[in-house]
Amino acid sequence: MMRVFNMSGQAGSGESTFFEQWNSYRKVIKYNYMSHAQIIDVIRQELYDLEDISILDLGCGDSHVLACSVDKEKNFRYLGIDTANDAIRFSEQNLTSHKGIARHIHGDFFAEMGRLSGDFDVIISGYSLHHLKRENKEEFFALVSNLLSARGTFMFYDAEVNSGESQSDCKTRTYRTIREHFRQLDANEMNALINHVRDYDLPEDEDFHVENMRKNGFIDIKKPFKDKYDLYSLYVSKKPA
Ligand SMILES: C[S@@+](CC[C@H](N)C(=O)[O-])C[C@H]1O[C@@H](n2cnc3c(N)ncnc32)[C@H](O)[C@@H]1O
Repeated sequence: MMRVFNMSGQAGSGESTFFEQWNSYRKVIKYNYMSHAQIIDVIRQELYDLEDISILDLGCGDSHVLACSVDKEKNFRYLGIDTANDAIRFSEQNLTSHKGIARHIHGDFFAEMGRLSGDFDVIISGYSLHHLKRENKEEFFALVSNLLSARGTFMFYDAEVNSGESQSDCKTRTYRTIREHFRQLDANEMNALINHVRDYDLPEDEDFHVENMRKNGFIDIKKPFKDKYDLYSLYVSKKPA
């Protein structure tokens, strides 16, 4: 049976509504509305020289990013966590032609992180952290740090408010961008996405993200990408040796 979790990590309903209609989000990816292509370029470069790695993908969605970032012939062990049924089904399909071994957990990544053990060489969190409450986000960075191996790489990309901007103003800019530029979504899809942003998105700013990485011992913190609408940022950071 499908399990859906709310933002506090307890069983509930609603949060994944937009993502249960995965076909709409596939359009977002296909038309590069949230800069997946540029994000893949960066992640691909980061993974290029790594061999036989273990990867944890938090809110993996359909794993399009990982599938496009890692060579099909490479050995790797992948664990994707997501609450959305459709997403996991597409993720399995997207990774079938890869040599790496893919596993999935259908559940809340925040709850599952506390139960996981082991050192991951790479942890990815893509467009999923902004759903957590602030205090859970703080704990999230500590959990990532615990699960990442020495010299491991943490890559996260997400909605980010500009310095001094309120979440509400950032969301207003987001609605405008969706309406003006996400042209291949039909009216229902646009409304579903805007409602999702309105009801569930809790983006933070750069200071919050960087401070939490620093506090939890991450080094070499870089922001190699920010999108042209100033809505989404990608960070790459490392665990020390
Ligand atoms: C915007 S999509 C991003 C998917 C993918 N990471 C990407 O970069 O395209 C957000 C994904 O995170 C999942 N998600 C959100 N909150 C989650 C949670 N607490 N636990 C597990 N999955 C979650 C959603 O179901 C959805 O698949």
